[in-house]
Amino acid sequence: MTGFHQRVFSGVQPTGNLTLGNYLGAIKRFVAMQAEMDCIYCVVDLHAITLPQDPADLIASTRAVTAAFLASGIDPKAHIVFNQSRVPQHAELGWVFNCIARLGWLNRMTQFKDKAGKNAEAASVGLYAYPNLMAADMMVYRATHVPVGEDQKQHIELTRDIAQKFNNDYSTRIAALGLGHEMRVGDETVNAFFPLIEPVIGGPAARVMSLRDGTKKMSKSDPSDMSRINLTDDADTIAKKVRKAVSDPLPLPETVDGLKDRPEADNLVGIYAALADVTKDAVLAEFGGAQFSAFKPALADLAVQKIEPISAEMRRITADPAYVDGVLKDGGERAGAIAEETMKAVKQIVGLLG
Ligand code: TYM
Repeated sequence: MTGFHQRVFSGVQPTGNLTLGNYLGAIKRFVAMQAEMDCIYCVVDLHAITLPQDPADLIASTRAVTAAFLASGIDPKAHIVFNQSRVPQHAELGWVFNCIARLGWLNRMTQFKDKAGKNAEAASVGLYAYPNLMAADMMVYRATHVPVGEDQKQHIELTRDIAQKFNNDYSTRIAALGLGHEMRVGDETVNAFFPLIEPVIGGPAARVMSLRDGTKKMSKSDPSDMSRINLTDDADTIAKKVRKAVSDPLPLPETVDGLKDRPEADNLVGIYAALADVTKDAVLAEFGGAQFSAFKPALADLAVQKIEPISAEMRRITADPAYVDGVLKDGGERAGAIAEETMKAVKQIVGLLG
């Protein structure tokens, strides 16, 4: 891709406790990307209200996710940390994207089906249009890279489709106004207003699974608290959850191939690898042949060692809500300046006077 400023955007919903899945699949990787590009990390409160939220809980969760970002090592001065509702251009571009995306595209979104459940008629319109707002989050900064867990892949593909349709539908106008950048699409070079964002998905924790069932995603909405490690769990709770995690009766295999058809073993090895910043192969080189009775205590120790300092720091930060709100306000102003510029151009392109 040429022409576009390389920029990272990603978001986390302020709904309930953050899990080890959120941390390993997303936040830990947000931290790593700060060394490579300008990063914008957002607490997506407008997305949260697509499902009913208690207002006081929503405010507390917005601050808690911000605290988790900061406690994990995101630098709000060198980069940008803010909450979505402070920058009205997200919703504004979201509306334009509602008019770009096709019903057929949204009908294919598996997360809507999962979240709406059996009674989709009773779901909010916001839940249905959720992916369009998500596309606007990234595109209002013309971001080029998005670190996310595996479960967001389909939403990122939709974002690329929306960007491409906008670029195509308005190509003449974009060129006439001189607002485009050169971008390679296959063998062609096109003049584009929005980049086709690259998902940054991968590593051993792209999909952290439930500790009770290795075929289900670890999720903050799972009714069983034993299914997940929360970033706010204390050392004893983390150790207990790892000890009680569902496993199988076989010893750990010597190679990654041996994890096939052993979802619980695969998950626990993946969690160890992501926490230790090594590959699953490296974990099996050390623990291959060991029983879970030996591996689980090692995993529990490692999880406590990595997660406890973050939860302690989160507690310290959330005790000072004025500081957290100051970070969000400052980040919102800096994000808003970029978003305003994009939205001004979008209005010119689309023909919206004002
Ligand atoms: P959310 O809040 O559900 O999750 C935040 C991030 O955590 C990742 N994640 C996981 N990764 C691995 N294993 C798991 N078990 C696991 N559970 C969650 C998610 O993939 C995500 O990266 N729609 C998004 C929020 C969003 C967003 C955006 C993301 C709104 N706008 C723009 C990127 C760009 C969501 O609900 O994430």
